[in-house]
Amino acid sequence: MKATAIAPSNIAFIKYWGKTDETLRLPANGSISMNLSNLTTTTTVAFSPEYPQDSLLIDNRNDANEEKRVIAHLDRIREKKGISYKAKVVSMNNFPASTGLSSSASGFAALTVAAAQAAGLKLSEKELSILARRASGSACRSIPSGFVEWKKGDTSETSYATSLYPSDYWDIVDIVVVVSSEKKEISTTKGQTSSTSSPFFPIRLSHMEEKIKKIKIYLATKDFRAFGELIESEALEMHAVMMTSTPPLLYWLPNTVRMMKLVYTWRTEGIPVYFTLNTGQNVHLICQKKDISLLTKKLEEVQEIKQVIINTPAQEARIIDTHLF
Ligand code: DP6
Repeated sequence: MKATAIAPSNIAFIKYWGKTDETLRLPANGSISMNLSNLTTTTTVAFSPEYPQDSLLIDNRNDANEEKRVIAHLDRIREKKGISYKAKVVSMNNFPASTGLSSSASGFAALTVAAAQAAGLKLSEKELSILARRASGSACRSIPSGFVEWKKGDTSETSYATSLYPSDYWDIVDIVVVVSSEKKEISTTKGQTSSTSSPFFPIRLSHMEEKIKKIKIYLATKDFRAFGELIESEALEMHAVMMTSTPPLLYWLPNTVRMMKLVYTWRTEGIPVYFTLNTGQNVHLICQKKDISLLTKKLEEVQEIKQVIINTPAQEARIIDTHLF
């Protein structure tokens, strides 16, 4: 009863921020994302009557913070299958976790797919997406392939993600610029609980459907400029809500702002590049494939940057043959 899965992280163009049901993780609005080829989690899960307790190793370390959440998710899977065996979970990220690169998306998508398979459950993509959502909302979007929509839904059964387009649909790129690998002080889950305290939250909610409609049109027509302008203003709007929540959430570091300003400068020089940000200090630069080398050169000149990770649109979370133990 052992299985291994690899799952991509994803970057949301229209963001999930705020829930209508904390326990079921139902989002306040729908969201749109793209899977990322170079930010992945690989996870092996084994269930066995020989394990006295659940054990978890993430990036070769015991992680007490994540343990509770992982065990709760294993419990959901055990309950679905009607088993009580304990599990061994070993997980590896190929990027720094908890710094705004959505390790919970790839992590819980990989855990869901590997644990379901190891338990002998035969689940559809929809069922896997619903299950992944229970562990971390954004993880439900790493289950389907390529460009993805998470429909808000109003029950657990209607809130899941599906693919809008496969990964080879559009040659756009997410250049992740790591300005610091420091872990964020406030987790996304905790941060989300204060979202509704922002006076701007109701305003944000009132136009989310319109934004989703628009981004779908820009995706369909591959209108990169309109697409870029919308995703950049969406990221800033989400951060405006974060900053005006009680307690306020300020995830940016000075170098985060420096990168955002550089993006504005590069655009005035004629390079079509836009930014988006999640909960953390690192910046996602969205550009077209043809501009990668130009931007990579520009980035080489910025000394404060710790790491650059180039991502193309990626496939879905899936089972692989190579186990981690
Ligand atoms: C800013 O999915 O990490 O990245 O459901 O509490 O685990 P939980 O939250 P999570 O939130 C992601 C927030 C975001 C925006 C997004 O990815 O849509």
